[in-house]
Amino acid sequence: MTVFTEQTRERAREIVSRYPADRSRSALLPLLHLVQAEEGYVSPAGVEFCAEVLGLNKAQVGAVATFYTMYKRKPTGDYLVSVCTNTMCNVLGGQDVYDTLAEHLGVGHDETTADGKITLEHAECLAACDYGPVMTVNYDFFDNVDPRGAVGVVDELRAGGRPMPTRGARLCTLKEMAVQLAGFADEREGAVADGGPGESSLRGLRLAQQHGISAPGFDPNTPIRSKAEADRVAAEAKAKAEAAEKAKADAAAKSAPDAPVKGGDGASAPTGVEPAQPERATGSTTPDVKAPDDKSPQVRTAETRQPDAATAVPDAPGTKVPADSVPPAPRDAQEAEVAGVAANPPASDGKPAGDDAGAQERNLKEAEAGAGGNGADPAVASETGVQK
Ligand code: FES
Repeated sequence: MTVFTEQTRERAREIVSRYPADRSRSALLPLLHLVQAEEGYVSPAGVEFCAEVLGLNKAQVGAVATFYTMYKRKPTGDYLVSVCTNTMCNVLGGQDVYDTLAEHLGVGHDETTADGKITLEHAECLAACDYGPVMTVNYDFFDNVDPRGAVGVVDELRAGGRPMPTRGARLCTLKEMAVQLAGFADEREGAVADGGPGESSLRGLRLAQQHGISAPGFDPNTPIRSKAEADRVAAEAKAKAEAAEKAKADAAAKSAPDAPVKGGDGASAPTGVEPAQPERATGSTTPDVKAPDDKSPQVRTAETRQPDAATAVPDAPGTKVPADSVPPAPRDAQEAEVAGVAANPPASDGKPAGDDAGAQERNLKEAEAGAGGNGADPAVASETGVQK
């Protein structure tokens, strides 16, 4: 497989390392975003890549990739324009926005313009109902759009511009966004600080402030570091701790008495001198300081969330849940199919299996009798509410 670059493989390894070793399959969702970042969609090669990295089969990967709408199964444009046509947005004009864009761009749902710039789709609730009607471009929001505004956005995109979304960071391409969705920080200078939250999003915060409610121990000034910055800080802390350990060991070696001399029979010299205790020899009063954890914050979080080791989980080693990687025997599948066919004989009239042609005939006769008002079966009459 040569489609994927070494950088993608390196990123794949990093994604997998965020999860506990016996739960690596949990890395599938970000991995699918990662392959989408490279090819613009989840291609058969992408499915194969994920299966290979996680030790799954292609059917398992394909089942996940086809379940979620964010994974595209065919090449997409640089900008994915999603228009919400769900209830709230629809009553506020979302369908008009979608219809206008479809006509203006000459494409329908999940189709891409000939220049490869725009893929249009209608979406079912983009979780921003209080800003409806909403549309997103590569998952960044344009709030309270109307048909004219939406056309202006796509025209600017096709002309090479990048209009600013109502909230959040400046626009990037769909492939660039897929990298972020795979769990890698937006490295563009200042992008994370772009755009503030909308007033509707802050309503809860305002009410909490008004009523004196706050989250205990929360520091609103906690910096959000990029991964590169977090890695640099962790590397510095690690180097500092290693240097301190080395200095401590050197000091202990210098101040320790000579090692006891062994006699010819191999026994220690009977001087009553106990082996030097490094801590005592240095006389240090510095409390033991644990070396900083050099795991990434993601791995630490994943480990914290891991349930008790005694909890049976589907893919934990030693649990008795059958491995779904073992396919059923072909003979079992054949028997099941034969049994299913026997239980569902096809109807002779070409209708779906399970329809009883005799029952239809009886129903017809009963209906004719009922229509004439005479001779209706009392049971049928009573069930259908026909009065005698
Ligand atoms: S209905 Fe459109 S965002 Fe919820």
